[in-house]
Amino acid sequence: MTATLPEQDLERHFEHVIERDQRIEPRDWMPDGYRKTLIRQVAQHAHSEIIGMQPEANWITRAPSLRRKAILLAKVQDEAGHGLYLYSAAETLGADRTDLTEKLIESRQKYSSIFNYPTLTFADVGVIGWLVDGAAICNQVPLCRSSYGPYARGMVRICKEESFHQRQGYELLMTMTRGTDAQRRMVQNATDRWWWPSLMMFGPPDDASPNTAQSMAWKVKRHTNDELRQRFVDMTAPQAEALGVTLPDPDLRWNAERGHFDFGEIDWAEFKRVVSGHGPCNAQRLAQRRRAHEDGAWVREAAAAHAAKHHSRDHWRSPT
Ligand SMILES: [Fe+2]
Ligand SMILES: [Fe+2]
Repeated sequence: MTATLPEQDLERHFEHVIERDQRIEPRDWMPDGYRKTLIRQVAQHAHSEIIGMQPEANWITRAPSLRRKAILLAKVQDEAGHGLYLYSAAETLGADRTDLTEKLIESRQKYSSIFNYPTLTFADVGVIGWLVDGAAICNQVPLCRSSYGPYARGMVRICKEESFHQRQGYELLMTMTRGTDAQRRMVQNATDRWWWPSLMMFGPPDDASPNTAQSMAWKVKRHTNDELRQRFVDMTAPQAEALGVTLPDPDLRWNAERGHFDFGEIDWAEFKRVVSGHGPCNAQRLAQRRRAHEDGAWVREAAAAHAAKHHSRDHWRSPT
């Protein structure tokens, strides 16, 4: 019905929906910029979930007990599921999933810079759960109120699973820090390596993030990068203390006046290097993704042949 309205009425309706904190749904009219911004954000998010399986999957066969293996396997499978929900959400915006996958493996679309760092010991599995999934929760909880319906609804379930991921990481670290000196050293070493890259997960500082204002106006994004980063530091610093590990930042201290933790300067040159493809594992991650895509070709062909067969059967059965 709305399709017959003139564009300015459609635009007014769209703005009204946003103002009233209601949801934009796939069939609703939306400005091109809104659609493009969402496709870019949701695709980047989906790619991050899929590439994010790699650093930890690396440890599934070497997990130290059956219990740890089962937990890690479940977590990595969850990430695959998150990727699938998000690719489906992108499809509701008119994106083509094959096209998105090609853009990822040809390095034309990004994924989170965090997954370009290596996982050197089993303590990394714990620290990734604690810090990386912890940062993901800070980023994603507000997205449950994103103005685009399918994305917001997908995030509700994803966030529930992310909080399980954060818990399993923290629980692993609690076990390790109560263990031997060597285990405590592993946890400290992993914390030293993952702390700064975790802070970079929130993206560039607000004054270098040109798309933030528009995304906030559209309620695609609910908080700025720096606000979310601060929230993460405030949440994590007391957890580090409880674990008995030191966060590798001499400037980290409670500021009673601000009611927040102050923290040191992030190495933005490193962030740019990793985002532009020159981190320690960028080439390895993409090569692995490409290999997995090629290995899966027969599955896609079989699924397409199966669908075509059913389609033609249905066609013959149908009275039309
Ligand atoms: Fe996830
Ligand atoms: Fe996760």
